[in-house]
Amino acid sequence: MCGIVGYIGNQDAGGILLTGLSNLEYRGYDSAGIALQNADGVHVFKEKGRIAALRKIVDPDVHATLGIGHTRWATHGEPNRRNAHPHQSASGRFTIVHNGVIDNYNLLKKQYLTGVAFHSDTDTEVIVQLIEHFVNDGMGVEEALRKTLKRAEGSYAIALLDRENDDTLYVAKNKSPLLIGLGDGFNVVASDATAMIQQTKQYVELMDEEIVALTRDGYTIKDLDGHRKTRSPYTVSFDARDTEKGAYPHYMLKEIDEQPAVLRRLLQKYEDKNGTLAIDPAIARAISEADRLYIVACGTSYHAGLVGKELIERIAQVPTEVHISSEFSYNTPLLSKNPLFIFISQSGETADSRSVLVKVKKMGHPTLTLTNVEGSTLCREADYKMLLHAGPEIAVASTKAYTAQIAVLAFIAIAAAEKKKIKLDFDPIHELSLVAQAMERMIDQKALLKEIARRYLSVTRNAFYIGRGIDYYVCQEAALKLKEVSYIQAEGFAGGELKHGTIALIEDGTPVLAFATQENVNNSIRSNVQEVSTRGAYTCIISMEGVTDKPGDQIVLPKVHRFLTPLVCAIPLQLIAYYAALQNECDVDKPRNLAKSVTVE
Ligand code: AGP
Repeated sequence: MCGIVGYIGNQDAGGILLTGLSNLEYRGYDSAGIALQNADGVHVFKEKGRIAALRKIVDPDVHATLGIGHTRWATHGEPNRRNAHPHQSASGRFTIVHNGVIDNYNLLKKQYLTGVAFHSDTDTEVIVQLIEHFVNDGMGVEEALRKTLKRAEGSYAIALLDRENDDTLYVAKNKSPLLIGLGDGFNVVASDATAMIQQTKQYVELMDEEIVALTRDGYTIKDLDGHRKTRSPYTVSFDARDTEKGAYPHYMLKEIDEQPAVLRRLLQKYEDKNGTLAIDPAIARAISEADRLYIVACGTSYHAGLVGKELIERIAQVPTEVHISSEFSYNTPLLSKNPLFIFISQSGETADSRSVLVKVKKMGHPTLTLTNVEGSTLCREADYKMLLHAGPEIAVASTKAYTAQIAVLAFIAIAAAEKKKIKLDFDPIHELSLVAQAMERMIDQKALLKEIARRYLSVTRNAFYIGRGIDYYVCQEAALKLKEVSYIQAEGFAGGELKHGTIALIEDGTPVLAFATQENVNNSIRSNVQEVSTRGAYTCIISMEGVTDKPGDQIVLPKVHRFLTPLVCAIPLQLIAYYAALQNECDVDKPRNLAKSVTVE
């Protein structure tokens, strides 16, 4: 939700900021803006819509070596030019970009800023006006910034320019993500490392309630009481090429295609010297000491968690619950005596999940995060971490992170079974290698999946996915993917549930796509297909070669182990959604109203 960049150095900041914002655009794309500071003052350019619209209005004759930028996902105030960041203080001395929500902004406005003319409807403008208010009271800039942030309740990642100081860029964070990047003769600010990867691979994490004064050749981190902090930089493991689309028309398609390679990479990362799958012994111990696992996640990560529950309970016989993060905080279930919490988050920054993490840590429970982003908040703050190694996922719709999450959950299930001396009836590395091959075979069937999307989804406003058992969890992800990228109203149902109400929605031509990969429920799900077909539904069966297939099935997946079918099902469900989105002329990588990293609750 919103992306921030900043640059202080010796090169032309404008181009660097615009490239950084383009890299960050998946975090929000309602409006965008940059501010460039040079000897003539601060020049603000902002525009409603995408970075492409902003590029058109930035004056190429304005050159500066200091600047900040922002791409917005609107919370307070309509997504228009007036509410686009950067925002400025009354005199124009201070200019700010902000990611987060200041909960008490109205109160601060009433308490300190009566009589100040506001130029936007945002909570952000209150911060910049308050800094100026305290400076007008005689405080130094850093002191005014600290005082303002001590009074601000909520979340923020900010970058601030002071027109009277060309040598410092101020940044601060609380709850919202922010990194500083280090270069030779320059330094940068970014919501995540992908934004500034063209500039540097060296980053320093910031903790909550820290303020940084960034200069061309250094940085000072302090807490809100002005105490100095020190922290070593780290090097990110990807480079600029990993964030590029290459010959692909969309990131989503590229990321779908990458899945077999991601699975093979994961097998390498988690294979030990003896050629068996191994996880950190401390994590295996924590799992074995727990009497129940609680998986907490949102969206696609939640759907991966549902599959994970099935794997952990079936393979390792460890009771497991799965919860939606945003519900957990107030709808907290009765907890077992020795729970272990597992947070699943591609970005590692999802605010709803983080608030549960904070809560259960306070209760003293052990926590494990599965994430794709090393150094992310959820990764840092949990007791244990496991990385997804999927490489940067840029498309808003999660694809390769979903299958990587399921694979890592399978590793957890396998490790937990081994710790409990439960003998597996399959060779995990062999079976997962077969999955990678099966994924490749499905990726090669793009023409068929495109045709399925055309045949079933080109003239419809709604569609249903149905399945039983583990296929039901797949259906929930299939429906989410279809909704978010093609805007077709889609639902994923348990096949047996249809006749308890939903079947009333079936009419002539309603598309119903059924996953049928599990032998034990094959007959039942086919009966459900019959039931809807009799009532006019246009049905499509996705079955598995040699296990559940029958002549006439529209899609037949290559055979894999019954626990691992969701990894292969992911490919057709994602590609069908992708082609349906193209048919509907949707913006595949940046669906309307969404943002990749949901950093507000
Ligand atoms: C997936 O396609 C979504 N855009 C979304 O549901 C996402 O999975 C969810 O917001 C959770 O994000 P996270 O994995 O980064 O925590």
